[in-house]
Amino acid sequence: MTLAQALQQSTRTLSLNGIEDCHLEARILLQHILKLSPAQLYIQTERVLGREHVKRLQELIERRLSREPAAYIVGHKEFYETDFYVDSRVLIPRPETETLVAAAFEFAKGCTNRFSSGRPLLIADVGTGCGAIAISLALNLPHSRVYATDISPSALEVARLNCEHHNVTEQIILIQGNLLEPVPEPVDLIVANLPYIRNSDLANLSPEITNFEPSVALDGGESGLEQIRQLLKQVERKIRPGGRLLFEIGQEQEKAVACLIDHCLPKAEFEFIPDSSGIDRAVRIDF
Ligand SMILES: C[S@@+](CC[C@H](N)C(=O)[O-])C[C@H]1O[C@@H](n2cnc3c(N)ncnc32)[C@H](O)[C@@H]1O
Repeated sequence: MTLAQALQQSTRTLSLNGIEDCHLEARILLQHILKLSPAQLYIQTERVLGREHVKRLQELIERRLSREPAAYIVGHKEFYETDFYVDSRVLIPRPETETLVAAAFEFAKGCTNRFSSGRPLLIADVGTGCGAIAISLALNLPHSRVYATDISPSALEVARLNCEHHNVTEQIILIQGNLLEPVPEPVDLIVANLPYIRNSDLANLSPEITNFEPSVALDGGESGLEQIRQLLKQVERKIRPGGRLLFEIGQEQEKAVACLIDHCLPKAEFEFIPDSSGIDRAVRIDF
């Protein structure tokens, strides 16, 4: 069987079983097995696959048909043009979260003159998961120090692997604990992608999410906003004057979030930040 035939057959099997983006997913699995880049896969279409590779492909297709996400099968996911190791201990980073990272860079850019003393920009990434946000910030802001917290010790093990791989263990301090509680000093910027799904809605998500991703990364309690509520109550003790809080929200949560901010931080002025599709994805509060 040639690579082109394997790709066609895998795409068809995935499609017949209702897997979305079946062509892309088949490519990801094949690239992984053959250790090829996307470009190499394109130009090697006539390559003949050995029996071992065909068997391995069938195994991975089976796993994907059981609804295991492709990112867990291949063990990595790209976020903000950087590759991160992922497994079922952490949420797979989503493209919409890049909105939060872009907004963080905008804040950091405005800080360059403020920190003439040479002190580092202090950042907290709350609910760091695999470390995608913290590491993207650290790699692009070499003069920052990032406290990355998570309630889940096993998520922090994954974040540690990614920090080591990207050589940022000196810049990022991983701390286990509830939200901002373990952050040892007030910071300039707080970034948070916390769970925001109502627990009554969890069962309605796709099997890729409900059966494989950690519920601690998804479950936002009865209102969907329980962790965000707690974060808003903690924030004033952990932010420096002139600092900024950025956090992600779910689609159509603007009204509920606005009420929550008015309740927890009555004097705060806030703004919603849209993603590239125009959907309000993040909230910005300046202090
Ligand atoms: C939606 S995931 C986001 C992961 C990662 N930041 C990202 O954007 O891909 C939420 C993360 O928050 C963590 N988390 C949930 N409740 C928390 C809490 N009370 N304190 C700290 N982290 C929490 C979860 O373990 C999970 O890693």
